[in-house]
Amino acid sequence: MFIRIFRVCRDNVVVLLTLIAFPPGKEGIVSEEADMTLNPQSAHYLLKVSSDNKSLYQASLSSPPRVPTNETYLLCICVSSKNLLDTRVYFVLKVTQRVPWTLGLRTESFNADRSPDTDPDAGIWTIASAEGKIIINDGKATPTLHVIPAMLGLYLDYARGQVSFYDSVVKRHLHTYITTFKEKLRFYAAVPVGQEETHDMLISFV
Ligand SMILES: *[C@@H]1O[C@H](CO)[C@@H](O)[C@H](O)[C@H]1NC(C)=O
Ligand SMILES: *[C@@H]1O[C@H](CO)[C@@H](O)[C@H](O)[C@H]1NC(C)=O
Repeated sequence: MFIRIFRVCRDNVVVLLTLIAFPPGKEGIVSEEADMTLNPQSAHYLLKVSSDNKSLYQASLSSPPRVPTNETYLLCICVSSKNLLDTRVYFVLKVTQRVPWTLGLRTESFNADRSPDTDPDAGIWTIASAEGKIIINDGKATPTLHVIPAMLGLYLDYARGQVSFYDSVVKRHLHTYITTFKEKLRFYAAVPVGQEETHDMLISFV
């Protein structure tokens, strides 16, 4: 009997570790497929969203700047068009190796033009790339030894308060935040672009 209880507990631990350790696939635990798109209105004028709203590029510096709307950020930021509320989703995006980025999820009320995007207490859960490695934006900018993945996997379990990041190419867990969500969330991308014009893809949902 004792052994049985122990086994059950151990199995639960294994399930939990599996959940955190591997990107959950289609056949796995995800109840909703996330068809993610970017909100082109939110993109800073130096950024350009593709016509299918899946990819983010640097805007052409020679064309006249887009007229900002009340949704447009003052910083090099773009957010998803979809709200994520009370759901479990996994999605994958290609990410640039060339410029640093900050990617993750934020609450609806997070004021990106005013608050730093590195503090979970402000309602934002992100990781960043710097000098070829991943940094955890846990308020202390914790460096890691993880190299920047070509494809980043992001998993949200709203009810459990879990946001996890994966290297979806080598199927490696990068970081998990555990918190309590009370608001709608949006995917958040900050990709500062410089004065040198390139037409490389910055991020792209696959
Ligand atoms: C892209 O987003 C814009 C603005 O939200 C929307 O009007 C348009 O229909 C979207 N296009 C696609 C292909 O989803
Ligand atoms: C932007 O303006 C539109 C109508 O002009 C309004 O419906 C929307 O809520 C506004 N968005 C923000 C973020 O203020």
